Amino acid sequence: MTNVASFSVEETNLDLINQATGKVVILVGAEGKLDQAAKRANKLTKGAIERFVQGDAFEKMSEGAVAELKFPTGMECSAVIIGKLEKRCTPDAARSLGVNVAKLCEPGHLLLATGNHPKSPLICEGVALRHYSYQDQKSDPTETDLTVTLMISKAEEVKVELDTALAIAEGVFFTRDLVSAPANVLTTTEFGNQLESLRELGLIVTVLEEKELEKLGMRTLLSVGQGSDSPSKVVTMEWKGGGDEAPFAVVGKGVVFDTGGISLKPAGGMEDMTMDMGGAGVVAGLMKALALRNAKANVVGLVGLVENMPSGNATRPGDVVKSMKGDTVEIINTDAEGRLVLADVLWYAQDKFKPSGMIDLATLTGAIIIGLGHDKAGVFANDDGFAKRIVDSAEREGEGAWHMPLAPCYDKLLKSNIADMKNVGGRAAGSITAAQFLQRFVKDDVPWAHLDIAGVASIKSESSFAPKGATGWGVRALNRFIADHYEGTS
Ligand code: BES
Ligand code: MN
Ligand code: ZN
Repeated sequence: MTNVASFSVEETNLDLINQATGKVVILVGAEGKLDQAAKRANKLTKGAIERFVQGDAFEKMSEGAVAELKFPTGMECSAVIIGKLEKRCTPDAARSLGVNVAKLCEPGHLLLATGNHPKSPLICEGVALRHYSYQDQKSDPTETDLTVTLMISKAEEVKVELDTALAIAEGVFFTRDLVSAPANVLTTTEFGNQLESLRELGLIVTVLEEKELEKLGMRTLLSVGQGSDSPSKVVTMEWKGGGDEAPFAVVGKGVVFDTGGISLKPAGGMEDMTMDMGGAGVVAGLMKALALRNAKANVVGLVGLVENMPSGNATRPGDVVKSMKGDTVEIINTDAEGRLVLADVLWYAQDKFKPSGMIDLATLTGAIIIGLGHDKAGVFANDDGFAKRIVDSAEREGEGAWHMPLAPCYDKLLKSNIADMKNVGGRAAGSITAAQFLQRFVKDDVPWAHLDIAGVASIKSESSFAPKGATGWGVRALNRFIADHYEGTS
């Protein structure tokens, strides 16, 4: 398990700047005026801060950027980090300042002397989100522990906001750890166990085993997992923080490894398919965040946990399976497995929980990476207003999202000669036909969105808020979406 850096909040005491070891962060606005903390650092360094701020280098820095003065004479610390930030900055600028600080952080101590900057909690959020390193598989993990002191006026007020940001960061780290874990470690059983441990936070966790899934008729989901020795599972996680209103449902694709099945993927890059449970990872992280921050909403998370393997028992191309809804699907390509898992979990979510709305997340198609790359997830919805609210929530949290189309004209691509539909629509509009397939398992009166996160769940270079690897994309977007639209409504 990867821990979020530990934060404490202290009332402004300028002597902390003299004594601080590790690194000290001060903020300076574009006009170069020094606040109390910056003045103290300036005095101790015999004017070094002022000389830097008056120079060209500072002028060229963009909002949210940082510069480091290493081993300043006159101070105990190993560096003063000067952050350029206006008092009235955007949330993005504050968060990215924190991210930039974290990139310079070494294990040990960090003093954030942000004075009375109103967006100090967002700066902390940026530091927390960026200071992540997955070490669980190293026999000799490197030391990464970071202790942060936020020195600020009105510490008590800020503490509440900071605690919420840190609860959400813990959810993000849970997602990243799950996504980073190799498939021989994070089997369907281990994934189920990790979700069961969320009970200690007050979530009601139910694990449905194969026998029960069989009884429920979830044949499309089971057809994906039947080639694997790992048992398929559906796990539900209920958070009841609201009144007696219907819950909001969040559904995740949890393919712990996707070989493609009999329609086997090529060897090159197949190892990346350990992240094919990314949707389920986001649902898990979101549920953890909601519980930790004691969200005043009813939310149920559901994940379909399966492994897509080729074997003597695996589903063949050409097989026809019946979904829980009752529709039959001709499986043309066993590598289009995510939609088969989601079809049954989406139907079960509506059948069991009668949700007021539903969002699914899935690393569903390679085509969404061709369309949108690694900066934005694709948002498909049966309601434009609903899609807009999701895109706006993501934007506010600095997570990219883009509204993609759904339309009946794409349905013809899913026609099967022998069954009610086939599971692939061909190369053209690959992400849309996948979403169109899912829509068949959503009732018309349920506001629903599908988020294709194949491009954003895990990436090979750093993102705006995460180091390279698992990002946890979506935990904050959906937490914001729940907070803004489903809390305090009862
Ligand atoms: N898990 C993959 C999609 C994926 C690709 C996720 C790359 C992350 C990175 C999904 O199950 C898949 O294999 N999709 C196929 C669908 C096709 C057979 C219609 C794809 O995108 O090629
Ligand atoms: Mn696949
Ligand atoms: Zn897949």
